[in-house]
Formats: sequence, C-alpha cells, structure tokens
Amino acid sequence: MLILGIETSCDETAATVVKDGTHILANVTATSAGLHEVTGGVIPEEAARKQLESILPVIDLALTDAGLAHTDIDQLAVTCGPGLIGSLLVGVETAKTLALAWAKPLVPVNHLVGHVYANWVEAKSTIAFPALVLVVSGGHTDLVLMRAHGKFAWLGGTRDDAAGEAFDKTARLLGLPYPGGPKLAQVADSYRKTHPDLTLFPRPMLTTPDYDWSFSGLKTAALNYVKDLYFTGRARHPLSLADYEQVAKDAKVKRAVPQLAAEIQEAICDVLVTKTLRAAAEYKPKSLLLSGGVAANARLKELFQAKLSAQRLPLAFQVPQPKYCTDNAAMIAAAAHFAGKPMPWEKIAADPSLTIADAAT
Ligand code: KG4
Ligand code: ZN
Repeated sequence: MLILGIETSCDETAATVVKDGTHILANVTATSAGLHEVTGGVIPEEAARKQLESILPVIDLALTDAGLAHTDIDQLAVTCGPGLIGSLLVGVETAKTLALAWAKPLVPVNHLVGHVYANWVEAKSTIAFPALVLVVSGGHTDLVLMRAHGKFAWLGGTRDDAAGEAFDKTARLLGLPYPGGPKLAQVADSYRKTHPDLTLFPRPMLTTPDYDWSFSGLKTAALNYVKDLYFTGRARHPLSLADYEQVAKDAKVKRAVPQLAAEIQEAICDVLVTKTLRAAAEYKPKSLLLSGGVAANARLKELFQAKLSAQRLPLAFQVPQPKYCTDNAAMIAAAAHFAGKPMPWEKIAADPSLTIADAAT
C-alpha cells in the first residue's frame, strides 16, 4: 500500500510517500521557521501564506523523489487538526482537491495520533500492545494507553501549558532564539555535565493521584527568578513586554542562562518521567513510546532510561528518530495506514481544536 501523506498543521509544509506504513520512499519538508525566528514565534497568517506557496512544489517533489507518478499512489492522507486554522486549511483543501482530481481515497488524520505513529516510521522491531504513549509537543502534552492500532484511552494531560510551550516561553525569557526548545536543551546539556544537582524549580503536581501536569507555574518561577536577578542593585519598577528584551541582555541574567536552562529542562523532564512511569507501574504496558517535538530532547530520553532500569520495569522503550519527533508527513501516512479510514472528501474538514481524546475509543 502506497500512501501520499500531507502535513501542514503549523509552520512545516510536508509531504511523503510511505509504503506499508513504515517504509519511506520520499519525505520532503519545507519550513517557514526562519521567518518566525525574526518575530520570536509563529505568526499564523505568515505561516499560512508560506504553506500556500510551498504545498504543490512539496507534493511534486515527494512524488519525484519516490520515482512515482500520482497514478501509482493508493491513498492520500492529510492532517485535519489540531493546528493553526489557516495552515490546516491549505493541506486539507489541497488533499481534497487531489483526491477528487486523481480519484483516490482520502484519510483524515488527527495530528496527535500522527505523532504517536512516528514510532512506526522505519521501526526496527514490532511494537507490542498495550503501549503507554507520552505525546509531548509544542501545543500538547498527553498520556494515552494504546491497546491496539487506533484504540486509545486518554489517561491525562497538561492542565495549562504544553511541555514544548514551557521550553519555548522560558527560552524566550532567557533571550534564546526561536524555536527555543532545542536551543535551551543545548545550553542546558553542557551545564548539566558539571552541575548534575538541579532542584531549583518546583515540580508541580508531582504527587497528585492523576496523570496530569501543569507547566505554567514553572514559567512564573523562572520569570520571578530572572526579575530578581535583574533588579539586584536597581530600583524595582513594573516591566512591560518590550522591556524583557533588555532584561535578557542584563549581564547578571546572561551569566545565569546556562544554569536556568538546565534547571528548567530538569524540572520539565522530572515531572514527565515520574508520572509516566507511575502510569506504567499501574497499567503494566508492554511498551513505552515517546512522541512529539519534545521527545527529541536528549535529557528526557536519558532520564526515562535511567529510571526504567532503576525501577526494573519490564517494557520496551522506544523514541522516534529526532526528525520524526517534530512535525513531519511520514507519521501522518503511518497513522493512516495502521489506524485510518478513508472518508468521502466532501465530509473532511479542518478542525483546529481536535484533541487526542477525540481519537479515544
Ligand atoms: O511536535 P512539534 O514539532 O510541533 C507541535 O505539534 O507542536 O513540537 C514542537 C515543539 C516545540 O515546542 C519545540 O521547542 C520542541 O518541540 N522541541 C524540543 C526539542 N526539539 C523540539 N524541546 C526540547 N528539546 C528539544 N530537543
Ligand atoms: Zn506536532
């Protein structure tokens, strides 16, 4: 089965050709991230405009790379949500048009289910069910139990900010360039080599008897710490949003960036790992899978591995290659192959507010 997958939920325009759900024949991604570096975050309107410019060339290139014509494709698959409405519309309406013009079945895919299926892309071994899956992206943090292909039970998630958002917003506060997560991780990892004891920031909801997280308090704790540094030897005054650029340039704040980055990363990873492993002890899955952009974080993987062996939990631990953790179209084609159903194109619509709980069965 050959699936042409399309993903346009945010600032990446991606198309892929995947054989039998796991084998990549072509994988093309254009990104407008460089544009958003200037503004320090994605401007939805700009991202949508770039999607429109890139979508057809990216699909064309994916077919060329795969050495195929559109007539060779069995199915189309497209991300229908969640994401930015303008960006989603470009992918969904393009896929619907192609499905009609080429007379091919079209499978709508929940972007978060797509992230889960990144674990099947070029997987070296079969994944045993039940699988406990932690989805940690820029917009979502969810823990789900997957009993079979397409069978999800939602166990918990963030009550406020997503883990990726906590990385990105605190990185911005520290004056690190967009996208903040990978940059903050890089600075944090070099500091941690010589300073392994990282307990400065609180671990919210660590002991609550649920599988929920909260990351907005960490953002406030980091903000207050930075403000205190900035106002040392200065008269306190209210800060406007524009003032924070100056705050990040303060010598005392700049000196503290490696330490704060490491403390922030450790606090985020600690709560994610602790609660996920508590769920593993309760539900006794055969596999533990990570997915989403934050799953590319090296410290998160390392902490999971260390605690899994310390707690002697007998499960297979898997994380997609970093390029399949962040947004890509291969995961969308994989999800369509293993868990998707074609729908008449007239009934498919972009839905920016979908959650992974919408895929729960
Ligand atoms: O899954 P994704 O590509 O897009 C969404 O669906 O949101 O995730 C992007 C998020 C961003 O918040 C980015 O900063 C974060 O993943 N991220 C990382 C790393 N690489 C990407 N966060 C921490 N460490 C990383 N190495
Ligand atoms: Zn994503």
